[in-house]
Amino acid sequence: MTGGSAQEEHRRLVEEIRRHDRLYYTLAQPEISDREYDQLFSRLRELEEQQPELVSEASPTQKVSETPLSEFPSIEHAVPMLSLDNTYSEEELVEFVERTKRATEKEALDWVIEPKVDGVAVAAVYQDGRLLRGVTRGDGSVGDVITENLLGVRSLPRTLAGVSKGVLEVRGEAFMTLSGFRRLNEKREEDGEDPFANPRNATAGTLKQLDPKIAAQRPLDVVFYGLGQVDGVELPETQFSFYQWLQENGIPAPEHCWVAQDIDGIHAALSELQERRRGLNYEIDGAVIKIDDRQWHRRLGATSRAPRWAIAYKFASERAQTILESVSFQVGRTGVITPVAELAPTPLAGSVIRRATLHNEDHIRRKNVLCRDRVWIEKAGEVIPAVIGPIIESRPEDATSIVFPHECPECAATTLRESHPDTGNTIWRCVNSDCPAQLRAKIEHWCSRKAMDIEGAGTVVIRQLVQRELVRHPADLYQLSMETLQGLERMAEKSARNLHSGIETSKERPFHRLLFALGIPNVGSTVAKTLAQAFPSMEKLSQATAETLIEVQDVGPIIADSVSAWFSQESNQRILEEMRAAGLPMSGPETEDEPAKNTEATGKTFVLTGTLPHWTRDEAKAHIEAAGGKVTGSVSKKTDYVVAGESAGSKLEKAERLQIQILDENELRVLLEVEASET
Ligand code: IVH
Repeated sequence: MTGGSAQEEHRRLVEEIRRHDRLYYTLAQPEISDREYDQLFSRLRELEEQQPELVSEASPTQKVSETPLSEFPSIEHAVPMLSLDNTYSEEELVEFVERTKRATEKEALDWVIEPKVDGVAVAAVYQDGRLLRGVTRGDGSVGDVITENLLGVRSLPRTLAGVSKGVLEVRGEAFMTLSGFRRLNEKREEDGEDPFANPRNATAGTLKQLDPKIAAQRPLDVVFYGLGQVDGVELPETQFSFYQWLQENGIPAPEHCWVAQDIDGIHAALSELQERRRGLNYEIDGAVIKIDDRQWHRRLGATSRAPRWAIAYKFASERAQTILESVSFQVGRTGVITPVAELAPTPLAGSVIRRATLHNEDHIRRKNVLCRDRVWIEKAGEVIPAVIGPIIESRPEDATSIVFPHECPECAATTLRESHPDTGNTIWRCVNSDCPAQLRAKIEHWCSRKAMDIEGAGTVVIRQLVQRELVRHPADLYQLSMETLQGLERMAEKSARNLHSGIETSKERPFHRLLFALGIPNVGSTVAKTLAQAFPSMEKLSQATAETLIEVQDVGPIIADSVSAWFSQESNQRILEEMRAAGLPMSGPETEDEPAKNTEATGKTFVLTGTLPHWTRDEAKAHIEAAGGKVTGSVSKKTDYVVAGESAGSKLEKAERLQIQILDENELRVLLEVEASET
């Protein structure tokens, strides 16, 4: 390769890697698999090894990629928070072991082998035994302070039993259990929200939430495997005994861990880990191999990106070949058209794969896939199956390029090509707001549990209502008579009556549910609640400008613009009028005379015992009472909850005996629906 073209390839790779970093870290919408990303990365590294003049400080090989988020306060790490070098190849693993042995000038070294948990890197800083803050890795030098969100992780100790002095920063991975992840996604789908692509995305999305209550409700967990700043705390000298020390101090450490003396021992540990992989309740994407003796960690140090005493050995995800038979185009609630690969059914990682998303037009062009191509598909753990790319050598002569329809596949209206405001990707959209596919998706959203929760409005009924033009907009649901409903196919009198009364009852839903049901872009159920609180009537909200909206806490410019644009459309105003006439809730309780909070705690009896980390007893009592609960002095069968802090004594024992639910401060906060900032 000539210098010029290597330079060109280098520039292209850097640009490509940066784009994927943004998709992965900032937007949580990755388009390629980790394996593909790692391949781009190793090609970049290879080029830089061949031509060192290509290396600059800005190259992704020289730094950690994640960028800090502006919404959180940031803080400089006392010790840089690095990433790891990784490999998929056994040969490179052997090379690493040999190279490291040479560097230490030792004949034999002990190695620790442990799971590489697929989550988000975090640090927890303890001062004098108390949790001071939680921080993300950020760019390795500066991270986001996410203490409140990390407090939502139940297994994270707030205080350390065996450490009362000094600074101890432990580093590890926040992650989501597989069972918790599946439950969370089921609920999101029921609520009409997009499911997360995989547990790691769900974790990243959760840690980015501005409202710590959300993190507290999600099934997050954490494991620690490393150290940052340590000042005045004595720690064991080997990695293995450090993990035992963590456990003894109530800090979650790797659940499985092996010590090996040589490469054979490392291989044996790796195959045991592979065998256990399927039985784990969290995703791992490989193993990490570290020198056991921690003095070598200090002596060998790190490059600007990764330590020299450890390597990640990544497991290749499962792949298969199949034929991309055709591409279908799905129309969503806002008219965006998503290309879906229709594949020859192929078994892969325990299921039969028939379809895979192709994301958008740019993605298809970059992958260079054609219809009828033989393609590689991949499924890594919980990740939705992906088309990796075509096998060019097997490309059939009749392969044809994938063409986006210029007419909507559903209503034949014109489709327009636009650029996505966040990702810059080309998207195609059906411009017809009466498109039956959009309308069906809108009505399904309207009837979903978190929106107007209309019982009996399933997809089959909705399809008929739209097809027969009985419903052109959600407001039309409220005009349907019993006779009309009974006239639908497969609709017995009883089901018709159920649906009819389901529609009627939905008029009693609170105002914020109606706001969510309207399907205003970027207004999910949480934002809808925030808006309803700040603007307790449709009239007030319609009159709000983007400038006033943005003053509301948790409302950013994207939401503000999208809400004001929605209300300024005349057609939307007309529909709101129809909804008002149908008797739908156009206002919520006024905030001026704040209604007593109705929470899980209302009418319940609490007993406080021990010292809570942040609240005094009086503060806790005031919060409980504000939520309509009662605080009494002694535990009896009538007690609903015992809130236990540090040095809780006999009351806690009695509560355990009587099997009364015990809460810590954080769980109490969740129950009372108290924001961390109110504490
Ligand atoms: S050790 C100085 N051990 O994987 C950095 N990392 O792809 C030491 N990870 O950046 C990191 N499990 O976020 C280490 N058992 C483990 C790990 C682990 C997951 C993450 C970590 C790292 C990334 C590299």
